[in-house]
Amino acid sequence: MKHVTVIGHPLVQHNLTRLRDARTQPQEFRQLLNEIAALMTYEATRSFVLKKISVRTPLEKTVGAQLRNEIVLVPVLRAGLGMLAGILELIPHARVGFLGLKRDETTLAAHFYQKSLPKKLGNTEIILIDPMLATGGSAVAALDYLREQGAKNLRLVSLVAAPEGIARVRKSYPKLPIFTAAIDRQLNNVGYILPGLGDAGDRLFGT
Ligand code: PRP
Ligand code: URA
Repeated sequence: MKHVTVIGHPLVQHNLTRLRDARTQPQEFRQLLNEIAALMTYEATRSFVLKKISVRTPLEKTVGAQLRNEIVLVPVLRAGLGMLAGILELIPHARVGFLGLKRDETTLAAHFYQKSLPKKLGNTEIILIDPMLATGGSAVAALDYLREQGAKNLRLVSLVAAPEGIARVRKSYPKLPIFTAAIDRQLNNVGYILPGLGDAGDRLFGT
């Protein structure tokens, strides 16, 4: 699938399986999700552009590198919060915005309840974070809002993706890079990913 990277790293796949396991309790679930988020970030940031800068070592001046653009992380509440700390471990200098979205259980349409983004998004690299890409409604709503606010360089990190969700995002954003640990089989008739891992927010927060 074009512009979709499935991260097959053994540690990612090992952790994903433990996250899928219905016996994994919230404390372990939180820890695993943050660990896997950090591992996925390694791959998701690989194409970030560097600029050359000069740096003086204790011995002499040399050429080094610096990220060209500032990085903004945008977790989709609630479940995206479960990946934030892990990603911040790798990118502690990132700025962070929050988008609160809740799916209506009947229509599966996503509704905003929180919008809080840093200013001046235009020249930043934005990583939208949501562990679950199911119908794609939440991701598209978040991406649309980010674009409205001036975001240009966007990528999506989603732990588990359904083919339906990828197709929905693709329809609106054909070239958006998507990073995931798994493309699962399908959605069930109430919009859950199969085999999936259940309700990510509920498993994270024990609700
Ligand atoms: C879940 C999940 C995603 C969304 C994915 O959130 O965390 O944000 O569903 O589904 P979609 O692709 O069909 O939009 P939910 O709305 O359940 O909120 P929560 O994270 O607060 O549990
Ligand atoms: N949201 C979740 O948390 N899990 C799913 O399977 C689908 C949407």
